Amino acid sequence: MKHARILTLIFLSSSALTAAEPAKPVDVSKIPLPVPRKVDFTQEVYPMLKESCFSCHGAQKQKGKYRCDTKDGAFKDTDHGPTIVPGHSEKSSLVHMVCGLIDEMLMPPPSDKPGQSEKLTDAQVGVLRAWIDQGAVWPDGPIAEVVKPVTFAADIGPLLAAACAACHSGADPKGGFGVGSAESVTKGGKTYGKAVTPGDPAKSPLVTIVAGLDEDLPLPEKHKLPPKQLDLLKRWVGQGAR
Ligand code: HEC
Ligand code: HEC
Repeated sequence: MKHARILTLIFLSSSALTAAEPAKPVDVSKIPLPVPRKVDFTQEVYPMLKESCFSCHGAQKQKGKYRCDTKDGAFKDTDHGPTIVPGHSEKSSLVHMVCGLIDEMLMPPPSDKPGQSEKLTDAQVGVLRAWIDQGAVWPDGPIAEVVKPVTFAADIGPLLAAACAACHSGADPKGGFGVGSAESVTKGGKTYGKAVTPGDPAKSPLVTIVAGLDEDLPLPEKHKLPPKQLDLLKRWVGQGAR
């Protein structure tokens, strides 16, 4: 009896230490559902991988010896099984990783720098799954870059509501500056006046302010956005602030 127990212990500890052990079963019921529509790789999937993965899995760096900016690289199997199984998102380890269902392998890895390495949203996972379920079609050759339009309704409004509305909404916003609509944001407040020059980030005080470069404003830490959000805001202004 004693013998058997020792053997079990050895077995347990060695399996816990071996990296290439067969993957633990993954609880697929926890994965967000695929979106119920046709997904476009070039418009939706590639830009998402670019934004969330290429900084560590692109031409410059290949963390974990994996890159997903090329077709060959993206479909390469890893220690955690096949990354992309066409027709079967629930069996694709890429999907398991972005949902955090594989121990220590949440992708992108969690970061304490706000705005960096953000977890994919349920909607993004839904797009990735739908693409894989629909056959994971990745056209040969270079992928044409898509410029995604940035809008107030979808992108900037929610961002400013979360970061600024506590002080810049309602009947009497601080400095007379309200973030409730594209018009009020463009119009600006009492001191600066016009905060946004559509099409020209360099001539938009709002960009200087949320970049943390305006030393005259109170509460500088409340006026500085993390790099990704700043970048989005600049793109919104550059595209005409609509
Ligand atoms: C900030 C850097 C970073 C980002 C961003 C990132 N990863 Fe990773 N990734 C890593 C590191 C580090 C490893 C190696 C981890 C290990 O082997 O323990 C890795 C490993 C992997 C692997 C290989 C796993 C294996 O079994 O060897 C895959 C696949 C992967 N990442 C997918 C992704 C995807 C998909 C994204 C975007 C949604 C992403 N990663 C974003 C850092 C990153
Ligand atoms: C905790 C409260 C607070 C938060 C949060 C906050 N602000 Fe402010 N903001 C102020 C105060 C106070 C002033 C100065 C008002 C004055 O001069 O009377 C100000 C002034 C401004 C002005 C100048 C308005 C003018 O007078 O022309 C702008 C533009 C501005 N904030 C933008 C933002 C943006 C964008 C965010 C979100 C990223 C933000 N603020 C978050 C408190 C806040």
